[in-house]
Formats: sequence, C-alpha cells, structure tokens
Amino acid sequence: FAEHPYSHLIDTVKDGTIKFFNPQKLNDPRYDKLPLSIRVMLEATIRNCDGVYTKEEDVQNILDWQQQQNKAEVPFSPARVLLQDFTGIPAMVDLAAMRDAVAKHGVDPSLVNPKCPTDLIVDHSLQIDFSKWPPSKGGSHCGGQRGSCSKSACSDPPASPGRPPASVQQIENTPLLCPFHLKPAVKCIICTLNAVKIFLSLVSFCKQWCSKAFKNVNVVPPDVGAVHQVNLEYLSRVVQLSDGFIYPDSVVGTDSHTTMINGLGILGWGVGGIESEAVMLGQPVSLTLPQVVGCKLVGSINPLTTSIDIVLGITKHLRQAGIAGKFVEFFGPGVSQLSAPDRTTIANMCPEYNATVSFFPVDQVTLKHFKKTKKLELLESYMKAVKLFRSYEDPSEDPEYSEVIEINLSSMVPYVSGPKRPQDRVAVGDMKEDFQSCLDEKVGFKGFHISKEKQEIRVPFLHCGQEYQLAHGSVVIAAVISCTNNCNPSVMLTAGLLAKKAVEAGLVVKPYIRTSLAPGSGMVTHYLSTSGVLPYFNQLGFEVIGYGCATCVGNTAPLPEAVVDAIKQGDLVACGVLSGNRHFEGRLCDCVRANYLASPPLVVAYAIAGTVGIDFEKEPLGKDGTQSQEVFLRDIWPSREEVQQTEEDTVISSIFKELRGRMKKGNTFWSNIECSDSVVFPWDPKSTYIRSPSFFSRLELPQPQSIENAHALLFLGDKVTTDHISPAGSIARVSAAAKYLLSKRLTPREFNSYGARRGNDAVMTRGTFASIKLCNRFMGKPGPKTLHIPSGQTMDVFEAAERYQRDGIPLIILAGKDYGSGNSRDWVAKGPYLMGVRAVIAESFEKLHKNQLVGMGIMPLQFLPGQNADSLELNGKERFTISLPDTLSPRQQLSVQTSQGNSFAVTALFDSDMEVLFFRHGGLLRYVARTLL
Ligand SMILES: *[C@@H]1O[C@H](CO)[C@@H](O)[C@H](O)[C@H]1NC(C)=O
Ligand SMILES: *[C@@H]1O[C@H](CO)[C@@H](O)[C@H](O)[C@H]1NC(C)=O
Repeated sequence: FAEHPYSHLIDTVKDGTIKFFNPQKLNDPRYDKLPLSIRVMLEATIRNCDGVYTKEEDVQNILDWQQQQNKAEVPFSPARVLLQDFTGIPAMVDLAAMRDAVAKHGVDPSLVNPKCPTDLIVDHSLQIDFSKWPPSKGGSHCGGQRGSCSKSACSDPPASPGRPPASVQQIENTPLLCPFHLKPAVKCIICTLNAVKIFLSLVSFCKQWCSKAFKNVNVVPPDVGAVHQVNLEYLSRVVQLSDGFIYPDSVVGTDSHTTMINGLGILGWGVGGIESEAVMLGQPVSLTLPQVVGCKLVGSINPLTTSIDIVLGITKHLRQAGIAGKFVEFFGPGVSQLSAPDRTTIANMCPEYNATVSFFPVDQVTLKHFKKTKKLELLESYMKAVKLFRSYEDPSEDPEYSEVIEINLSSMVPYVSGPKRPQDRVAVGDMKEDFQSCLDEKVGFKGFHISKEKQEIRVPFLHCGQEYQLAHGSVVIAAVISCTNNCNPSVMLTAGLLAKKAVEAGLVVKPYIRTSLAPGSGMVTHYLSTSGVLPYFNQLGFEVIGYGCATCVGNTAPLPEAVVDAIKQGDLVACGVLSGNRHFEGRLCDCVRANYLASPPLVVAYAIAGTVGIDFEKEPLGKDGTQSQEVFLRDIWPSREEVQQTEEDTVISSIFKELRGRMKKGNTFWSNIECSDSVVFPWDPKSTYIRSPSFFSRLELPQPQSIENAHALLFLGDKVTTDHISPAGSIARVSAAAKYLLSKRLTPREFNSYGARRGNDAVMTRGTFASIKLCNRFMGKPGPKTLHIPSGQTMDVFEAAERYQRDGIPLIILAGKDYGSGNSRDWVAKGPYLMGVRAVIAESFEKLHKNQLVGMGIMPLQFLPGQNADSLELNGKERFTISLPDTLSPRQQLSVQTSQGNSFAVTALFDSDMEVLFFRHGGLLRYVARTLL
C-alpha cells in the first residue's frame, strides 16, 4: 500500500490495529456535503484506485458529485458479489473452464480465482421455481425464469414426483434421495425430480469448485435459502475486514431482492450474470454518477398506523415522484422511527418506483438490528470516523441532494376499507361518520338505505344466559388473519401487544362475537408464542383456528342463533371486521351486510368496542375491570418502540438462530459429499447439465478484429428482448436443443427448461434465438427460423449459424430500436458469441445488453441517428465488411461496406478504453485468461 496513490489517507482504528482509508483526510469541504451513498462509492474508488480500472480522475469526479452527477462515468468496485444458483453456477462453470484453458497453456490453474469475495446461495431458485409443484390440474409446469410462464412457452409437465422414471437413475447414476432434506425425493415438494437431477449433477461441482478449489468463494448450502431475505442479511457485514483494512460493505447480486440490503446502509443493486462475473474477476461496475434524491421524512407516525401502511405510503409517494434510475437516500428526523425491517421492505420495493437503490444510512437503529450477530464497537467507531454514521435528528449533518422529496409521516393515516368492496377506503378517524352515511344512502356499494326512524333501533337478546343488545354497526365477526400484506411480523405483534394491554386493562370482547385467529403459517404462531402475546389473544377469544384460507373465503363457524335472530328482527346492518385482503358482500355470512378490512390490531380494537360506529379519539373502548375508569384505544395501543423491540427480540433473533442451525445442518451434509482434490474440475462427460464451455478455444491467438464479408444471421425489427434472444422456458420437442438432448439419449420429458440447463453451453447455444415469438424479417411468420443465405434454405437459427461457422463466414445481426431490452440473462451474449456473431448493428441498444455484448467481445454498432436498415435500403442479404483502425477510441465511427457497393457509418458503442481492450481480446473472460498467459 506504500505505492497506493492515496496511502496518505490511511488511518487506523482500534488502537492502531486496523487500517482504513479516511476520505476526510482529503481535507475537501465537499466531502461533508456528499450523500452518504456517494461517500460509500468514493471510499471504494479511493481504496481500489489502481490507475487501470480505477483512476484518480474517478475519485475527483465522485468528489465533484455536485457538478458531475448524471455526467461522469465512474467505476464502482463492490465489496462482494452475491450469486444465486441459476445465475451463479454458469459463472462458476466459466471460471472452471478458464482453469482448464490456462492449464492447457502451462499456467498454474490455481491462479484463476474470483478477486472479489463471492457468496453463492445454492438452492434459492430451485426452491422458487419448483415451489408450485405439483402443477394444478390441467395447468402446465414451467421451470426456468420466475414469472416467465406463458402458456405457449410451456410443454408437458415433467414426470409425476410420485413415479420417477427409471431412466433418471441411469442418467445421473445416483439414488433418488432428496439432497435438501436427506429424505426420499418423492416425499418432498421442493425436491421434484428435476430439482434433484440438476442438483445431483451440480453438487460435486459446487462442492469442488465453489467451496474448495476457489479462494474467495463462500457457498451457502442447500436448505438454508428458505428464509431468503434474512439470508441476505446473514451474509451482510455492514463493514468488511480484509488484509487488515476495514471498509463499508457493498454488494452487487444476481438476485432481484439485492436492493433490500440498502435498508441496512449497505449499498447494493442487482446486475446480470455477465456483469457479476466481471465483478468477480476484479472489474468495477461502470455507471453514470447517479443523481441522489433525498427523501426527507418528517412528522411523527400516527400511532394507529402500522408498518405496512407506512411502507406502502412511502412507496406510493416515490412512485409518483418519477425517480427512475436515481438513487434515493433517506434523511430527516422521521427516519429513526422506521425499524430495520421497515427500511429493508421499503428498499426491497425499489423496482416498483424504478430507483436504483433506496439507501438508509447506518444509524443506531441499524446497529441495534445487528446487535446479536456482529461486533458493533468496531463497526460504529469506523463508520463514525468516515462520517458514514447518521444521527437523523441532527440536520447539520444533512448532505446536499440533487432534489428533495419531503414526506410527512403524519399524513399517513390508517385506513379500513368497506363496507362492501376492498377499494372503498375510509380513514379510521372518519369511520363513525362514514358508517352513518352508509345507513342513510340509497342501496349501493356505500349504502344500506335504512330509514331514519329505524337507525336507532336496539335489539336485546340472550347469549349464555346474559342479555346483550345489537344495533346497526355492531360487530359480530372479528377475524385476525395473517396473509398477504398482513404477514409483516410487526403488524401481527402490534395486534398481540394490543390484546395484552387490553386484557391487562380489564377489557373484554363480548362473547357472542365470532372471533378467530388464522396465523397463515406456523412461523407466525411461533413468534406470537415466543413473544408471549398468544395467551392474550386467546383470552380475548382470538384462538388459532388453523392455517390457510378460512374466514376470507367464508369458512366461518355459524353465528349463534340468537344473534342471527336479533339481526333479522331489527333488519340490522351487522358488521364483520377482518384483516384479510378481500371480502365480498354476504360472503362471511348472509346476515352480515357490512364487512370491513382492517389491520390486525384494528380488528382487535373494533372487536373490543363491539361496533364500527366509534370515534376512537373521542369515545372509550370500554371500562376497566372495576368498571370505574374509561379506557381509550390510545391508552392501550403499543408504541412503535415497544413493537420494534419485541420484533427484534423474538422474530429477528429466532430467525437468525434458525438460519445458523440450518447452515450447520447444511454444512454437515455438504462435508459428507465426496469430491476430488484436483485443481481443475473433472468434468463428467455424461452430464447433460454442466459442461466445460468453449469460450476459451484458441486462447493464444488474438481475436480477429475486422469483419470481412459477414452474412446477417438475422434481420430483426424493433424491441427484440432478451426473452427472444435467450428464452428461458421449456425446451420445445422440435428444436435444435431437443435434437442435441435426444442424441444424449434423453426423452422429451427429461428435457427440462433452458433455465435449468444454463450450465450446458451446447444446450444454451442451441436455445439462442429459439423463441417462437422471434420476428425475423427473413421469415414470413414468427418463429426460431432463419434463412441460410448462401443456400436459400430455411432452418433453425442454430443450424444456420453452425453452417456459416463451418464455412468460415463471420456473422452479424441487423436490428431495430431497443435491442436487448428485458430481464438480464447470462446467455444473451454468450449464445450469440458461440454462434459466431461478431457484431450487432441496431438503431439503439438497451444499455445493460450493450455492456453484455462488449463483455463477450461482440461489437455493438449503432446506426447514425435517423438511419436504419430501411432508410439505407438494406435487404439483409448483402455481405458486410467492417474494417477497424489499429487504434479504436470509445464511440468512434466506423464504416460498413456492403457487397452491393454502398457503405454507411455506424458508431461503435464502446464507452471506455477498457471496453475496447476487452473487445480486442474477445471479451472479458478471454481477456482475463489471456492476461494470465
Ligand atoms: C406534518 O403534518 C402534521 C399534520 O398534518 C402537521 O401538524 C405537522 O406540522 C407536519 N409536520 C411538518 C414538519 O410539516
Ligand atoms: C418503470 O420502468 C418501467 C420500464 O422501463 C416503466 O414501464 C414504468 O412505467 C416505470 N415506472 C415508474 C413508476 O417510473
């Protein structure tokens, strides 16, 4: 570090034993004004400044964020990479193949390692992708990308888990034992046959490569991923320690939930498979220095407002604010009222409002959250030393933001909805008035049309020997249900603590009210019980009635006959209050005409009040045990601090504990797997799931640069998505990939999906452009076909590419606007590369996809503004020659000559010298391998 350009910034903490780069030593007043998220980027850039990937100029640009935001391209080297198996395994396969390649050239293969610490979560997507098993009757099963299931993309479901085809054992030669739970696979829903098959091929690979052969790789074994969000937290370190240096944690991940980590003050976002590989190999992520929207939280939270109300309220504000592509950073005195789980939930909602991240700088709340797992003193003193620790109450610490959105938390009042439809929202404070007007209004969604003289009616009745009265608005059903948006633990705990305080204050729920508690999962019962609130629920009559859909769908036990008679006698508008997410008139019970959805604690409150016609501000819920004192809702409503504390003490700590247990168990299983000690991976030639990919052939030769007499493999229009380029659905029975798999003696029911076979380049290359929705202008109708121009024949895109390659003809692709939009997928550039595609000429590119093409050594070339294939009168059947100068600079214009004698200019979309360098070497992977040679 002596030669480090910023060695003069090195400081120490903990009696001089731990070093860090202190940006404050730059003595630059701008530092104190930077948003904290930008300070994290600045520190990383200072620490990683090597003059190659990261330069002093980059440090200056970030420091000059006020002027450079939205202008300068800057590098960012995150502290770690998070991979989930479906995208992580191909990355590991590539590194394994790289070891083979360098070994072949006499280089020590053990030199190939991720440079950046990498966590690989093994069973994450298996769990998600196969959780729908068994498929519903008549429906079809799709593996592969979550949510990508369309009817047309699905073929037959795989074999029933109850009857595994015998051939599986022959194929993978392993007993059918569920690797997740060490039980026979047929007994386990997660472990469908397919999951098992993929898993067994990958087990020894992961074991061998990810946790043993490679340095810097941590594998989170199977059966731990179940508590996914916490898993991310478990891996989080807030600060990292390595080589005696301490620095802030930050992450890029291939998981769509990566952004939730920003709720804990850890900067991170999602990237595609190829980008994550680049980061693993020591490459910074390149991004335009982002604008940072300061989201100022003011006001205090209305006590009746739950976390869910707050989270949804903030999300709604942000969605309306139009902050796509920006960072959001929270500040203001209101932030400290939000618990760590509230913050991570808001941060996790980023995709809803298109922000890159929603960053909550570390404060006391964050520290408390990590209290049970991390060493806090060091963390705190370090974060304070570099001014990454916030005291939200102190406005003198507030940074300067690109713009500020102010949200007054007091404006988020709790709502209930009803009386007939979920979309009719009523503020709790207006409930009494609203119900009154519903009685007056003519019959409709908000009206019952009860004549004035009948509105005051009281109907007495006997229940268990005691006389009670019913009136309009009387609550007869109260159901606390934890499903959908009420599954947030803090909300259920609020209800439980409210029940506790109600019981302690001597309040009761009238016995004729049909009360119930449906916790949704055993987990909810578990934390209600460990936090000690369950008995109080029971005392108020809210007893656990079971799991799954109950009251919402009308499965309520019948009301007492006397109640029904009283309702009929008075033609009363009786009420149900429940915390589900939907209800319909008369669904709870024919005789209950008004039904309201409310948060779980409000269900408890209305049950105690016995009526919805109450103004909680002005009217008491009831009298205390001695019948002497009136008790108001505000007297027994638990404070947010109390709820947060209970949540931290019971829910969070027990989840962490469970996670540690699973880790241990998983690791035991893991360590019992046999694997060889060889430095290069002993590929199993029989495996159809992983294969050494052929990215590294003829590694010693430089990549040919100019493109001569290329044919267009495809002539595409606008908006070709990554789904067209590399479909993730199941493998069609008639396709190039099917032919390959049949040649490996697989039957169609064993094909599985492209998503599941990402570790096999032969399948994935054949699957490239195999979308039945691909619109190729060479063809009359959509489909995975193209014209092989020299022969005039129509064939599968892969077959055409194979023929061109055999004949030594380079390939290009012609396309329209927005080429490569959609989800990032690791094969969208690898597939075309292995097909022999050297350049894509398009009107415009999705930036992420453009980067992926560069990463694989494919030139992204853009028509000049206003030009396209039609305006240039191209028919796609010409041959194309693109000559490159010896020195190529970013965004340089190149000339394309066609065999028809015309020529046109295109812009080579390389954004930096680094990108040019990768291209010169045939992409990032080859560049890294060739550097080792
Ligand atoms: C927030 O709103 C409340 C109620 O509307 C108001 O009393 C309070 O002054 C507001 N706070 C700020 C800081 O604007
Ligand atoms: C977010 O981006 C998507 C796709 O670019 C767009 O369709 C959507 O309208 C955007 N939403 C917001 C809230 O900006």
